[in-house]
Amino acid sequence: MPTTSDIRDLSAGAQAAIAAAADLRALEELRVRYLGRKGALTEKLKSIGALAAEERRAYGRQLNQLKKEIQRQLQNRRAALQEDERAAGIARDAVDVTLPGRGAAPGGVHPVSRTLARMEEIFVRLGFAVADGPELEDDFHNFTALNIPPGHPARAMHDTFYAHPPSCGLLLRTHTSPVQVRYMQNHKPPLRVIAPGRVYRCDSDLTHTPMFHQVEGLVVDEDTSFADLKGVLVHFARAFFERDLEVRFRPSFFPFTEPSAEVDISCVFCRKGCRVCGHSGWLEVLGCGMVHPAVLGHVNIDSERFLGYAFGMGVERLAMLRYGVDDLRVFFDNDLSFLRRFR
Ligand code: FA5
Ligand code: MG
Repeated sequence: MPTTSDIRDLSAGAQAAIAAAADLRALEELRVRYLGRKGALTEKLKSIGALAAEERRAYGRQLNQLKKEIQRQLQNRRAALQEDERAAGIARDAVDVTLPGRGAAPGGVHPVSRTLARMEEIFVRLGFAVADGPELEDDFHNFTALNIPPGHPARAMHDTFYAHPPSCGLLLRTHTSPVQVRYMQNHKPPLRVIAPGRVYRCDSDLTHTPMFHQVEGLVVDEDTSFADLKGVLVHFARAFFERDLEVRFRPSFFPFTEPSAEVDISCVFCRKGCRVCGHSGWLEVLGCGMVHPAVLGHVNIDSERFLGYAFGMGVERLAMLRYGVDDLRVFFDNDLSFLRRFR
């Protein structure tokens, strides 16, 4: 026989359990436990039939009140849990719009590539074609055809990296001048060509790296002169630097040109001399001269009929002067804080 204290116990137990339900699933289990077909309250309601009529009425009313109360608590708790879940979802997916963005990190063109592109553009505008040649070169093209036969002292000046075994006769080209030879072997004059590319020498200091770039230039025609060469180079310097840096032609020697000169640009880092220019006030940027008849002879061009001039520019030297970089080696250190300046 159910009693009023049974109802109080049931009520208290349900209330505590509902308040403690941690999630919607636990809450649904409680609903089944109390109000389901075999639930605690349902069982009690079923037992009413056994009571006397007057008790049935009073007890039934209490049970029905309790049922409504439990339903109300379940509904409140469900609403609270749903709200918690929604809030947790929002917190989980929250975007802090005040955080700094991650930002895109686009790459940039390397200053040496930039310089090469700029040089090519200037020469293409002057009517030069663009050619290239192998970096792993043979002795003939790098030296012999350029009038530097085996045993010539000029070979010692080149600090050459030779390939192994030495009998293979291959080396890393020490300059872009072998492309002159290759180009003349495959093209008939008149010629007007540049050959940009990588070259190698066992060399390293403020103004030298073991790998660097040159832009070779070659013009072969029936009527050309040292004055033309000078005009082209001075025009180039003005177009490249966009300001009037001083250009100096200094007599020099190359086995493959005669006469020969080296061209210096006034040092942009000092007035009177510094570590970069070796205290001279000038930085050497290129070698040049009139193509030696012996070179034309190696490629069967009639040196009685044709004249040529040639030059070989140091790309990193030009880049250092243009960008004010006082140590040539940093171009190849891959230091991002340096490279980002060129983005
Ligand atoms: C030559 O390499 C000749 N082939 C240039 C030439 C071509 C003369 C055609 C006549 C006709 P030289 O060794 O001086 O010359 O090098 C040319 C330029 O390359 C130098 O003026 C300098 O600007 C650059 N250079 C030379 N060695 C290095 C190095 N280790 N690192 C960076 N730049 C260099
Ligand atoms: Mg030199």
